[in-house]
Amino acid sequence: MSKRFYVTTAIDYVNGQPHLGHAYEKVITDVIARARRSMGDDAFFLTGLDEHGQKVQQAAQQEGKTAQAYSDALAEDWKRFASKLDLTNNDFIRTTEPRHKGVVSALLSELHARGHFYTAEYVGFYSTRAETFLTDKDRRPDGSFDPEYGDVAQLTEQNYYFRLKDHQQWLIDHIEANPDFIYPDYRRNEVLGFLKNNTLEDLCISRPSARLTWGIPLPFDPGYVTYVWFDALTNYITIPAAHGDPALPPWARKAAGASGNEAVELWPADAHVVGKDILKFHAVYWPIMLKAAGLPLPRKLVVHGWWMKDGQKMSKSTGVIVDPVQVIQDWGVDAFRYYVVRELDLGPDGNWTDAGFEARYNAELANGLGNLVNRSLGMLNKYRKGIVPPPHDELAADAARAIAAVREDYEAYRLQGALIDAWSLVSRANLYVQQTAPFTLAKDPAQAERLDQVLYNLLEACRILAILVWPVIPQTAQKIYGQLGIPGAPDRFADAAWGRLVPGRATGEPAALFPRHDLVPRSKS
Ligand code: MSP
Repeated sequence: MSKRFYVTTAIDYVNGQPHLGHAYEKVITDVIARARRSMGDDAFFLTGLDEHGQKVQQAAQQEGKTAQAYSDALAEDWKRFASKLDLTNNDFIRTTEPRHKGVVSALLSELHARGHFYTAEYVGFYSTRAETFLTDKDRRPDGSFDPEYGDVAQLTEQNYYFRLKDHQQWLIDHIEANPDFIYPDYRRNEVLGFLKNNTLEDLCISRPSARLTWGIPLPFDPGYVTYVWFDALTNYITIPAAHGDPALPPWARKAAGASGNEAVELWPADAHVVGKDILKFHAVYWPIMLKAAGLPLPRKLVVHGWWMKDGQKMSKSTGVIVDPVQVIQDWGVDAFRYYVVRELDLGPDGNWTDAGFEARYNAELANGLGNLVNRSLGMLNKYRKGIVPPPHDELAADAARAIAAVREDYEAYRLQGALIDAWSLVSRANLYVQQTAPFTLAKDPAQAERLDQVLYNLLEACRILAILVWPVIPQTAQKIYGQLGIPGAPDRFADAAWGRLVPGRATGEPAALFPRHDLVPRSKS
Protein backbone atom coordinates (compact mmCIF):
# COMPACT_ATOMS: atom_id res chain seq x y z
CA MET A 1 0.00 0.00 0.00
CA SER A 2 1.28 3.48 -0.73
CA LYS A 3 0.16 6.93 0.22
CA ARG A 4 -2.41 8.48 -2.07
CA PHE A 5 -2.35 12.09 -3.24
CA TYR A 6 -4.89 13.65 -0.87
CA VAL A 7 -6.55 16.93 -1.86
CA THR A 8 -9.39 18.77 -0.10
CA THR A 9 -11.64 21.79 -0.47
CA ALA A 10 -12.80 23.94 2.43
CA ILE A 11 -16.09 22.64 3.77
CA ASP A 12 -18.92 25.07 3.10
CA TYR A 13 -21.32 26.48 5.67
CA VAL A 14 -24.64 24.94 4.98
CA ASN A 15 -26.62 28.15 5.55
CA GLY A 16 -27.81 28.78 2.02
CA GLN A 17 -27.49 27.65 -1.58
CA PRO A 18 -24.09 27.24 -3.27
CA HIS A 19 -22.76 30.21 -5.26
CA LEU A 20 -19.98 30.95 -7.70
CA GLY A 21 -17.27 31.10 -5.01
CA HIS A 22 -18.10 27.64 -3.72
CA ALA A 23 -18.36 26.30 -7.27
CA TYR A 24 -14.99 27.74 -8.24
CA GLU A 25 -13.14 26.16 -5.35
CA LYS A 26 -14.71 22.79 -6.05
CA VAL A 27 -13.94 22.93 -9.75
CA ILE A 28 -10.27 23.84 -9.32
CA THR A 29 -9.86 21.11 -6.73
CA ASP A 30 -11.49 18.62 -9.07
CA VAL A 31 -9.15 19.73 -11.86
CA ILE A 32 -6.16 19.16 -9.55
CA ALA A 33 -7.46 15.70 -8.57
CA ARG A 34 -8.21 14.68 -12.16
CA ALA A 35 -4.87 16.01 -13.44
CA ARG A 36 -3.00 14.04 -10.77
CA ARG A 37 -4.91 10.88 -11.61
CA SER A 38 -4.20 11.42 -15.29
CA MET A 39 -0.49 11.79 -14.49
CA GLY A 40 -0.51 8.51 -12.55
CA ASP A 41 -1.25 9.46 -8.94
CA ASP A 42 -4.06 7.69 -7.15
CA ALA A 43 -5.64 10.95 -6.01
CA PHE A 44 -8.26 11.06 -3.24
CA PHE A 45 -10.47 14.14 -3.34
CA LEU A 46 -12.54 15.27 -0.36
CA THR A 47 -15.21 17.94 -0.15
CA GLY A 48 -18.18 18.47 2.14
CA LEU A 49 -20.15 20.63 4.53
CA ASP A 50 -19.57 22.57 7.74
CA GLU A 51 -22.87 22.17 9.53
CA HIS A 52 -22.42 23.25 13.15
CA GLY A 53 -22.21 26.64 14.77
CA GLN A 54 -24.19 29.79 15.17
CA LYS A 55 -24.59 30.69 11.50
CA VAL A 56 -26.35 27.44 10.73
CA GLN A 57 -28.36 27.47 13.96
CA GLN A 58 -29.63 30.98 13.19
CA ALA A 59 -30.41 30.18 9.55
CA ALA A 60 -32.43 27.14 10.69
CA GLN A 61 -34.30 29.18 13.30
CA GLN A 62 -35.29 31.71 10.67
CA GLU A 63 -36.92 28.92 8.68
CA GLY A 64 -38.54 27.49 11.79
CA LYS A 65 -36.65 24.22 11.47
CA THR A 66 -34.35 22.30 13.76
CA ALA A 67 -30.70 22.71 12.78
CA GLN A 68 -30.51 19.00 11.97
CA ALA A 69 -33.57 18.99 9.70
CA TYR A 70 -32.39 22.20 8.05
CA SER A 71 -28.91 20.86 7.28
CA ASP A 72 -30.21 17.44 6.21
CA ALA A 73 -32.36 19.09 3.56
CA LEU A 74 -29.62 21.45 2.34
CA ALA A 75 -26.99 18.70 2.32
CA GLU A 76 -29.01 16.96 -0.41
CA ASP A 77 -28.94 20.15 -2.53
CA TRP A 78 -25.19 20.49 -2.03
CA LYS A 79 -24.54 16.88 -2.99
CA ARG A 80 -26.59 17.34 -6.15
CA PHE A 81 -24.58 20.48 -6.81
CA ALA A 82 -21.34 18.49 -6.58
CA SER A 83 -22.57 16.13 -9.26
CA LYS A 84 -23.77 19.01 -11.47
CA LEU A 85 -20.21 20.32 -11.36
CA ASP A 86 -19.02 16.87 -12.47
CA LEU A 87 -16.82 16.50 -9.39
CA THR A 88 -14.95 13.25 -8.82
CA ASN A 89 -14.77 13.47 -5.05
CA ASN A 90 -14.03 10.18 -3.29
CA ASP A 91 -15.92 11.03 -0.14
CA PHE A 92 -18.26 13.77 1.06
CA ILE A 93 -18.08 14.83 4.67
CA ARG A 94 -20.84 16.30 6.78
CA THR A 95 -19.62 17.49 10.17
CA THR A 96 -22.81 16.18 11.80
CA GLU A 97 -21.89 12.58 10.95
CA PRO A 98 -20.96 10.27 13.83
CA ARG A 99 -17.53 9.51 12.33
CA HIS A 100 -16.66 13.21 12.46
CA LYS A 101 -18.10 13.90 15.90
CA GLY A 102 -16.07 10.95 17.18
CA VAL A 103 -12.79 12.28 15.80
CA VAL A 104 -13.37 15.85 17.05
CA SER A 105 -14.15 14.50 20.47
CA ALA A 106 -11.07 12.25 20.48
CA LEU A 107 -8.81 15.08 19.30
CA LEU A 108 -10.13 17.36 22.05
CA SER A 109 -9.51 14.65 24.65
CA GLU A 110 -6.00 14.09 23.33
CA LEU A 111 -5.11 17.78 23.43
CA HIS A 112 -6.72 18.17 26.86
CA ALA A 113 -4.71 15.22 28.19
CA ARG A 114 -1.54 16.76 26.78
CA GLY A 115 -2.25 19.95 28.73
CA HIS A 116 -2.89 22.33 25.86
CA PHE A 117 -6.13 23.79 27.24
CA TYR A 118 -6.93 25.96 30.25
CA THR A 119 -10.06 27.77 31.41
CA ALA A 120 -10.30 31.52 31.78
CA GLU A 121 -12.91 34.19 32.15
CA TYR A 122 -13.80 36.40 29.27
CA VAL A 123 -15.43 39.74 29.90
CA GLY A 124 -17.06 41.36 26.91
CA PHE A 125 -20.08 43.05 25.43
CA TYR A 126 -22.68 40.53 24.36
CA SER A 127 -25.53 41.12 21.96
CA THR A 128 -28.36 38.71 22.65
CA ARG A 129 -30.03 39.57 19.37
CA ALA A 130 -26.91 38.82 17.28
CA GLU A 131 -25.90 36.06 19.69
CA THR A 132 -22.32 37.20 19.65
CA PHE A 133 -19.74 39.15 21.58
CA LEU A 134 -19.06 42.55 20.03
CA THR A 135 -15.65 44.17 19.88
CA ASP A 136 -14.47 47.75 19.62
CA LYS A 137 -14.56 47.35 15.85
CA ASP A 138 -18.34 47.07 16.08
CA ARG A 139 -18.70 50.43 17.84
CA ARG A 140 -19.96 53.51 16.01
CA PRO A 141 -17.80 56.67 16.02
CA ASP A 142 -19.60 57.91 19.16
CA GLY A 143 -18.71 54.69 20.98
CA SER A 144 -22.21 53.21 21.03
CA PHE A 145 -23.29 49.99 19.33
CA ASP A 146 -25.70 50.03 16.42
CA PRO A 147 -29.34 49.61 17.53
CA GLU A 148 -29.50 46.55 15.22
CA TYR A 149 -27.63 44.68 17.98
CA GLY A 150 -30.49 45.24 20.42
CA ASP A 151 -29.56 45.23 24.09
CA VAL A 152 -25.82 44.94 24.55
CA ALA A 153 -24.76 43.97 28.04
CA GLN A 154 -21.42 43.32 29.67
CA LEU A 155 -21.10 39.60 30.22
CA THR A 156 -18.54 37.44 31.94
CA GLU A 157 -18.10 33.99 30.49
CA GLN A 158 -15.90 31.09 31.48
CA ASN A 159 -14.38 29.25 28.50
CA TYR A 160 -11.69 26.81 27.42
CA TYR A 161 -8.64 28.24 25.69
CA PHE A 162 -5.94 26.63 23.56
CA ARG A 163 -2.45 27.90 24.45
CA LEU A 164 -0.92 29.13 21.18
CA LYS A 165 2.03 31.30 22.20
CA ASP A 166 4.48 28.40 22.52
CA HIS A 167 3.78 27.48 18.92
CA GLN A 168 4.62 30.76 17.26
CA GLN A 169 8.34 30.26 16.65
CA TRP A 170 8.32 26.72 15.28
CA LEU A 171 5.52 27.70 12.92
CA ILE A 172 7.54 30.63 11.57
CA ASP A 173 10.54 28.30 11.18
CA HIS A 174 8.41 25.70 9.44
CA ILE A 175 7.00 28.16 6.92
CA GLU A 176 10.45 29.59 6.26
CA ALA A 177 12.05 26.18 5.86
CA ASN A 178 9.27 24.97 3.53
CA PRO A 179 8.78 27.59 0.84
CA ASP A 180 6.25 25.31 -0.88
CA PHE A 181 3.98 25.11 2.14
CA ILE A 182 1.82 28.06 1.10
CA TYR A 183 1.03 28.75 -2.56
CA PRO A 184 1.15 31.35 -4.06
CA ASP A 185 4.17 33.13 -2.61
CA TYR A 186 2.46 36.35 -1.65
CA ARG A 187 0.04 34.48 0.62
CA ARG A 188 3.00 32.87 2.33
CA ASN A 189 4.52 36.30 2.90
CA GLU A 190 1.24 37.52 4.37
CA VAL A 191 1.24 34.72 6.93
CA LEU A 192 4.89 35.25 7.82
CA GLY A 193 4.31 39.00 8.20
CA PHE A 194 1.38 38.33 10.50
CA LEU A 195 3.28 35.80 12.62
CA LYS A 196 6.37 37.96 12.94
CA ASN A 197 4.57 41.16 13.86
CA ASN A 198 1.93 39.89 16.26
CA THR A 199 1.84 37.78 19.37
CA LEU A 200 -0.60 34.95 18.86
CA GLU A 201 -3.60 35.20 21.13
CA ASP A 202 -4.83 31.99 22.68
CA LEU A 203 -7.78 30.46 20.86
CA CYS A 204 -11.14 30.08 22.58
CA ILE A 205 -12.26 26.58 21.63
CA SER A 206 -15.56 26.37 23.52
CA ARG A 207 -18.98 27.98 23.60
CA PRO A 208 -21.25 27.56 26.65
CA SER A 209 -24.20 25.31 25.74
CA ALA A 210 -26.41 27.86 27.45
CA ARG A 211 -26.04 30.11 24.39
CA LEU A 212 -25.11 27.66 21.62
CA THR A 213 -26.38 24.11 21.49
CA TRP A 214 -25.65 23.29 17.83
CA GLY A 215 -22.18 21.85 18.15
CA ILE A 216 -20.11 18.92 19.37
CA PRO A 217 -20.02 18.74 23.21
CA LEU A 218 -16.60 19.04 24.84
CA PRO A 219 -15.84 15.48 25.98
CA PHE A 220 -14.39 16.74 29.27
CA ASP A 221 -17.11 19.31 30.06
CA PRO A 222 -20.71 18.80 28.89
CA GLY A 223 -21.53 22.42 29.69
CA TYR A 224 -19.87 23.45 26.43
CA VAL A 225 -19.88 22.77 22.70
CA THR A 226 -16.82 23.00 20.47
CA TYR A 227 -15.98 26.20 18.61
CA VAL A 228 -17.06 25.64 15.01
CA TRP A 229 -13.62 26.25 13.44
CA PHE A 230 -11.96 23.66 15.68
CA ASP A 231 -14.71 21.25 14.65
CA ALA A 232 -14.48 22.13 10.93
CA LEU A 233 -10.70 21.94 10.49
CA THR A 234 -10.68 18.48 12.01
CA ASN A 235 -12.66 17.18 9.00
CA TYR A 236 -9.42 16.84 7.07
CA ILE A 237 -8.29 14.01 9.37
CA THR A 238 -11.75 12.54 9.99
CA ILE A 239 -11.87 11.02 6.55
CA PRO A 240 -8.37 9.48 6.60
CA ALA A 241 -9.18 8.15 10.08
CA ALA A 242 -12.50 6.71 8.88
CA HIS A 243 -10.68 4.98 6.01
CA GLY A 244 -8.26 3.39 8.50
CA ASP A 245 -5.21 5.49 7.56
CA PRO A 246 -2.20 3.94 9.35
CA ALA A 247 -0.51 7.37 9.42
CA LEU A 248 -3.01 8.40 12.10
CA PRO A 249 -2.90 7.13 15.68
CA PRO A 250 -5.27 4.36 16.83
CA TRP A 251 -7.36 6.82 18.90
CA ALA A 252 -8.29 8.69 15.72
CA ARG A 253 -9.12 5.59 13.68
CA LYS A 254 -11.14 4.09 16.50
CA ALA A 255 -13.06 7.33 17.04
CA ALA A 256 -13.95 7.43 13.34
CA GLY A 257 -15.22 3.86 13.47
CA ALA A 258 -12.67 2.55 10.95
CA SER A 259 -13.43 -1.08 10.24
CA GLY A 260 -9.85 -2.24 10.19
CA ASN A 261 -10.07 -4.20 6.92
CA GLU A 262 -9.93 -1.35 4.42
CA ALA A 263 -6.93 0.87 4.99
CA VAL A 264 -6.26 3.85 2.78
CA GLU A 265 -3.10 5.90 3.29
CA LEU A 266 -3.96 9.56 2.97
CA TRP A 267 -2.48 11.74 5.69
CA PRO A 268 -0.72 14.16 5.45
CA ALA A 269 -2.84 16.03 2.94
CA ASP A 270 -0.94 16.98 -0.21
CA ALA A 271 -3.03 20.10 -0.76
CA HIS A 272 -5.77 21.93 1.11
CA VAL A 273 -7.44 24.23 -1.41
CA VAL A 274 -8.95 27.25 0.38
CA GLY A 275 -9.97 30.86 -0.21
CA LYS A 276 -7.81 33.76 0.92
CA ASP A 277 -10.32 34.74 3.64
CA ILE A 278 -9.70 31.56 5.63
CA LEU A 279 -5.93 31.45 5.25
CA LYS A 280 -5.20 32.21 8.91
CA PHE A 281 -7.29 29.28 10.10
CA HIS A 282 -5.40 26.94 7.78
CA ALA A 283 -1.90 28.37 8.05
CA VAL A 284 -1.89 29.10 11.79
CA TYR A 285 -4.55 27.26 13.82
CA TRP A 286 -4.65 24.01 11.86
CA PRO A 287 -0.88 23.32 11.89
CA ILE A 288 -0.80 24.12 15.60
CA MET A 289 -3.70 21.78 16.36
CA LEU A 290 -1.92 18.98 14.49
CA LYS A 291 1.49 19.56 15.98
CA ALA A 292 0.03 19.74 19.48
CA ALA A 293 -1.61 16.36 18.91
CA GLY A 294 1.61 14.88 17.56
CA LEU A 295 0.34 14.59 13.97
CA PRO A 296 2.17 15.46 10.73
CA LEU A 297 1.34 18.77 9.03
CA PRO A 298 -0.28 19.07 5.60
CA ARG A 299 2.17 19.51 2.74
CA LYS A 300 0.60 22.47 1.03
CA LEU A 301 -2.06 25.14 1.24
CA VAL A 302 -3.27 26.27 -2.17
CA VAL A 303 -4.91 29.65 -1.68
CA HIS A 304 -7.27 31.08 -4.27
CA GLY A 305 -8.70 34.58 -4.63
CA TRP A 306 -12.27 35.80 -4.59
CA TRP A 307 -14.68 36.31 -7.45
CA MET A 308 -16.60 39.50 -7.94
CA LYS A 309 -19.24 40.16 -10.56
CA ASP A 310 -18.97 43.23 -12.81
CA GLY A 311 -16.44 44.64 -10.37
CA GLN A 312 -18.76 44.38 -7.37
CA LYS A 313 -18.84 42.12 -4.36
CA MET A 314 -21.46 39.44 -4.85
CA SER A 315 -24.40 39.59 -2.51
CA LYS A 316 -27.91 38.23 -2.53
CA SER A 317 -29.39 41.43 -1.16
CA THR A 318 -28.08 43.60 -4.01
CA GLY A 319 -28.86 40.94 -6.60
CA VAL A 320 -25.25 40.94 -7.81
CA ILE A 321 -24.82 37.19 -8.12
CA VAL A 322 -23.80 34.49 -10.53
CA ASP A 323 -25.88 31.36 -10.19
CA PRO A 324 -23.63 28.49 -11.29
CA VAL A 325 -26.57 26.11 -11.67
CA GLN A 326 -28.24 28.46 -14.15
CA VAL A 327 -25.02 28.95 -16.11
CA ILE A 328 -24.52 25.18 -16.32
CA GLN A 329 -28.10 24.71 -17.45
CA ASP A 330 -27.71 27.33 -20.18
CA TRP A 331 -24.19 26.63 -21.40
CA GLY A 332 -23.16 23.20 -20.15
CA VAL A 333 -20.92 22.21 -17.28
CA ASP A 334 -17.73 22.18 -19.34
CA ALA A 335 -18.25 25.76 -20.49
CA PHE A 336 -18.61 26.80 -16.84
CA ARG A 337 -15.56 24.83 -15.74
CA TYR A 338 -13.52 26.17 -18.64
CA TYR A 339 -14.40 29.78 -17.99
CA VAL A 340 -13.61 29.81 -14.27
CA VAL A 341 -10.28 28.06 -14.74
CA ARG A 342 -9.25 30.06 -17.82
CA GLU A 343 -10.41 33.47 -16.59
CA LEU A 344 -8.85 33.44 -13.14
CA ASP A 345 -5.33 32.42 -12.30
CA LEU A 346 -5.11 30.53 -9.01
CA GLY A 347 -4.27 33.29 -6.51
CA PRO A 348 -5.53 36.76 -7.39
CA ASP A 349 -9.14 37.97 -7.26
CA GLY A 350 -11.28 37.64 -10.36
CA ASN A 351 -14.19 39.32 -12.02
CA TRP A 352 -17.07 37.51 -13.71
CA THR A 353 -18.74 39.29 -16.60
CA ASP A 354 -21.42 37.70 -18.75
CA ALA A 355 -19.84 39.33 -21.82
CA GLY A 356 -16.44 37.85 -20.94
CA PHE A 357 -18.02 34.43 -20.50
CA GLU A 358 -19.73 34.62 -23.87
CA ALA A 359 -16.59 35.90 -25.57
CA ARG A 360 -14.49 32.99 -24.30
CA TYR A 361 -17.23 30.51 -25.15
CA ASN A 362 -17.39 31.71 -28.72
CA ALA A 363 -13.73 32.43 -29.43
CA GLU A 364 -11.95 29.71 -27.48
CA LEU A 365 -14.43 26.86 -27.15
CA ALA A 366 -16.73 27.07 -30.19
CA ASN A 367 -14.39 28.64 -32.76
CA GLY A 368 -11.16 27.38 -31.21
CA LEU A 369 -11.24 23.79 -30.01
CA GLY A 370 -14.74 22.98 -31.28
CA ASN A 371 -14.08 24.15 -34.81
CA LEU A 372 -10.71 22.40 -34.99
CA VAL A 373 -12.19 19.03 -34.10
CA ASN A 374 -15.24 19.56 -36.24
CA ARG A 375 -13.46 20.52 -39.42
CA SER A 376 -10.69 17.96 -39.01
CA LEU A 377 -13.22 15.16 -38.73
CA GLY A 378 -15.45 16.69 -41.37
CA MET A 379 -12.59 16.67 -43.90
CA LEU A 380 -11.59 13.14 -42.98
CA ASN A 381 -15.14 11.97 -43.59
CA LYS A 382 -15.44 13.87 -46.82
CA TYR A 383 -12.07 13.04 -48.34
CA ARG A 384 -11.14 9.71 -46.72
CA LYS A 385 -14.49 8.17 -45.74
CA GLY A 386 -13.59 8.65 -42.07
CA ILE A 387 -10.58 6.30 -42.18
CA VAL A 388 -7.43 7.46 -40.35
CA PRO A 389 -4.51 7.82 -42.81
CA PRO A 390 -0.92 6.63 -42.16
CA PRO A 391 1.06 8.45 -39.43
CA HIS A 392 2.96 11.64 -40.10
CA ASP A 393 4.73 13.98 -37.71
CA GLU A 394 4.66 17.53 -38.99
CA LEU A 395 2.98 18.86 -35.82
CA ALA A 396 4.80 16.45 -33.48
CA ALA A 397 7.25 19.03 -32.15
CA ASP A 398 4.50 21.60 -31.49
CA ALA A 399 2.49 18.94 -29.70
CA ALA A 400 5.48 17.82 -27.64
CA ARG A 401 6.06 21.39 -26.48
CA ALA A 402 2.43 21.78 -25.46
CA ILE A 403 2.37 18.40 -23.70
CA ALA A 404 5.47 19.19 -21.63
CA ALA A 405 4.24 22.67 -20.73
CA VAL A 406 0.76 21.49 -19.73
CA ARG A 407 2.19 18.73 -17.56
CA GLU A 408 4.43 21.19 -15.75
CA ASP A 409 1.50 23.55 -15.29
CA TYR A 410 -0.72 20.90 -13.73
CA GLU A 411 2.10 19.78 -11.45
CA ALA A 412 2.70 23.35 -10.30
CA TYR A 413 -1.01 24.23 -9.77
CA ARG A 414 -0.92 26.65 -12.73
CA LEU A 415 -4.33 25.59 -13.97
CA GLN A 416 -4.93 28.69 -16.07
CA GLY A 417 -1.47 28.18 -17.57
CA ALA A 418 -2.39 24.61 -18.52
CA LEU A 419 -5.28 25.90 -20.62
CA ILE A 420 -3.19 28.65 -22.18
CA ASP A 421 -0.54 26.11 -23.16
CA ALA A 422 -3.11 23.62 -24.47
CA TRP A 423 -4.67 26.37 -26.56
CA SER A 424 -1.31 27.14 -28.14
CA LEU A 425 -1.74 23.76 -29.84
CA VAL A 426 -5.35 24.58 -30.77
CA SER A 427 -4.15 27.78 -32.46
CA ARG A 428 -1.21 26.05 -34.08
CA ALA A 429 -3.47 23.37 -35.56
CA ASN A 430 -6.08 25.86 -36.75
CA LEU A 431 -3.33 27.87 -38.41
CA TYR A 432 -2.00 24.67 -39.99
CA VAL A 433 -5.37 24.18 -41.67
CA GLN A 434 -5.07 27.62 -43.24
CA GLN A 435 -1.45 27.08 -44.25
CA THR A 436 -1.89 23.64 -45.78
CA ALA A 437 -5.36 24.30 -47.27
CA PRO A 438 -6.55 20.68 -47.34
CA PHE A 439 -9.69 21.68 -49.30
CA THR A 440 -7.42 22.78 -52.16
CA LEU A 441 -5.22 19.68 -51.86
CA ALA A 442 -8.36 17.53 -52.14
CA LYS A 443 -9.03 18.87 -55.58
CA ASP A 444 -5.71 17.60 -56.95
CA PRO A 445 -5.26 13.79 -57.09
CA ALA A 446 -1.46 14.29 -57.27
CA GLN A 447 -1.64 15.72 -53.74
CA ALA A 448 -3.33 12.67 -52.22
CA GLU A 449 -0.38 11.73 -50.05
CA ARG A 450 0.06 15.29 -48.83
CA LEU A 451 -3.63 15.41 -47.92
CA ASP A 452 -3.21 12.18 -45.92
CA GLN A 453 -0.33 13.76 -44.02
CA VAL A 454 -2.23 16.92 -43.20
CA LEU A 455 -5.28 15.00 -42.02
CA TYR A 456 -3.22 12.70 -39.80
CA ASN A 457 -1.51 15.69 -38.16
CA LEU A 458 -4.81 17.39 -37.47
CA LEU A 459 -6.52 14.33 -36.03
CA GLU A 460 -3.54 13.43 -33.88
CA ALA A 461 -3.45 16.98 -32.51
CA CYS A 462 -7.16 16.63 -31.62
CA ARG A 463 -6.53 13.32 -29.86
CA ILE A 464 -3.70 14.80 -27.81
CA LEU A 465 -5.77 17.87 -26.98
CA ALA A 466 -8.53 15.66 -25.58
CA ILE A 467 -6.02 14.29 -23.06
CA LEU A 468 -4.57 17.70 -22.17
CA VAL A 469 -7.96 19.29 -21.49
CA TRP A 470 -9.65 16.30 -19.86
CA PRO A 471 -9.04 17.46 -16.25
CA VAL A 472 -10.87 20.74 -16.96
CA ILE A 473 -13.52 19.77 -19.55
CA PRO A 474 -13.90 16.01 -19.16
CA GLN A 475 -17.19 15.63 -21.04
CA THR A 476 -15.88 17.45 -24.09
CA ALA A 477 -12.65 15.46 -24.01
CA GLN A 478 -14.66 12.25 -23.91
CA LYS A 479 -16.76 13.42 -26.88
CA ILE A 480 -13.58 14.10 -28.85
CA TYR A 481 -12.41 10.55 -28.17
CA GLY A 482 -15.82 9.24 -29.19
CA GLN A 483 -15.84 11.22 -32.43
CA LEU A 484 -12.32 10.03 -33.23
CA GLY A 485 -13.51 6.47 -32.67
CA ILE A 486 -11.02 5.86 -29.86
CA PRO A 487 -12.17 3.43 -27.16
CA GLY A 488 -11.73 4.27 -23.47
CA ALA A 489 -11.30 7.65 -21.82
CA PRO A 490 -8.77 10.44 -22.46
CA ASP A 491 -7.73 10.24 -18.83
CA ARG A 492 -4.12 9.10 -19.07
CA PHE A 493 -1.49 11.72 -19.64
CA ALA A 494 0.98 9.06 -20.78
CA ASP A 495 -1.19 8.52 -23.87
CA ALA A 496 -0.41 12.07 -24.95
CA ALA A 497 2.59 10.98 -27.02
CA TRP A 498 2.68 11.68 -30.73
CA GLY A 499 1.75 8.91 -33.13
CA ARG A 500 -0.65 6.81 -31.08
CA LEU A 501 -3.62 7.48 -33.32
CA VAL A 502 -4.06 4.15 -35.09
CA PRO A 503 -4.13 4.33 -38.90
CA GLY A 504 -6.80 2.43 -40.81
CA ARG A 505 -9.36 2.89 -38.02
CA ALA A 506 -12.78 4.34 -38.71
CA THR A 507 -13.68 7.51 -36.83
CA GLY A 508 -17.15 8.42 -35.59
CA GLU A 509 -19.55 11.15 -36.65
CA PRO A 510 -18.49 14.76 -36.07
CA ALA A 511 -20.96 16.80 -34.03
CA ALA A 512 -20.55 20.35 -32.67
CA LEU A 513 -18.81 20.25 -29.28
CA PHE A 514 -19.96 23.75 -28.37
CA PRO A 515 -23.18 24.63 -30.17
CA ARG A 516 -23.66 28.27 -31.06
CA HIS A 517 -25.39 29.69 -28.07
CA ASP A 518 -28.38 31.19 -29.84
CA LEU A 519 -29.23 27.61 -30.78
CA VAL A 520 -29.22 26.45 -27.16
CA PRO A 521 -32.70 26.59 -25.69
CA ARG A 522 -32.50 29.20 -22.93
CA SER A 523 -34.21 28.30 -19.72
CA LYS A 524 -36.60 30.85 -18.35
CA SER A 525 -35.33 32.50 -15.21
N1 MSP B 1 -16.97 26.72 6.70
C1 MSP B 1 -15.83 27.55 6.45
C2 MSP B 1 -14.64 26.74 5.99
C3 MSP B 1 -14.18 25.65 6.91
S1 MSP B 1 -12.84 24.77 6.22
C4 MSP B 1 -12.32 23.77 7.45
C5 MSP B 1 -16.17 28.59 5.38
N2 MSP B 1 -17.24 28.31 4.62
S2 MSP B 1 -17.79 29.26 3.44
O1 MSP B 1 -18.94 28.58 2.91
O2 MSP B 1 -17.96 30.59 3.92
O3 MSP B 1 -16.65 29.32 2.36
C6 MSP B 1 -16.18 28.13 1.74
C7 MSP B 1 -15.10 28.45 0.72
O4 MSP B 1 -15.69 29.22 -0.35
C8 MSP B 1 -13.95 29.27 1.28
O5 MSP B 1 -12.71 28.73 0.89
C9 MSP B 1 -14.17 30.64 0.67
O6 MSP B 1 -12.97 31.34 0.44
C10 MSP B 1 -14.83 30.28 -0.65
N3 MSP B 1 -15.57 31.42 -1.18
C11 MSP B 1 -16.68 31.99 -0.66
N4 MSP B 1 -17.01 33.07 -1.44
C12 MSP B 1 -16.12 33.21 -2.45
C13 MSP B 1 -16.00 34.06 -3.59
N5 MSP B 1 -16.81 35.06 -3.82
N6 MSP B 1 -15.00 33.77 -4.47
C14 MSP B 1 -14.16 32.67 -4.32
N7 MSP B 1 -14.27 31.88 -3.27
C15 MSP B 1 -15.11 32.22 -2.22
O7 MSP B 1 -15.47 29.56 5.27
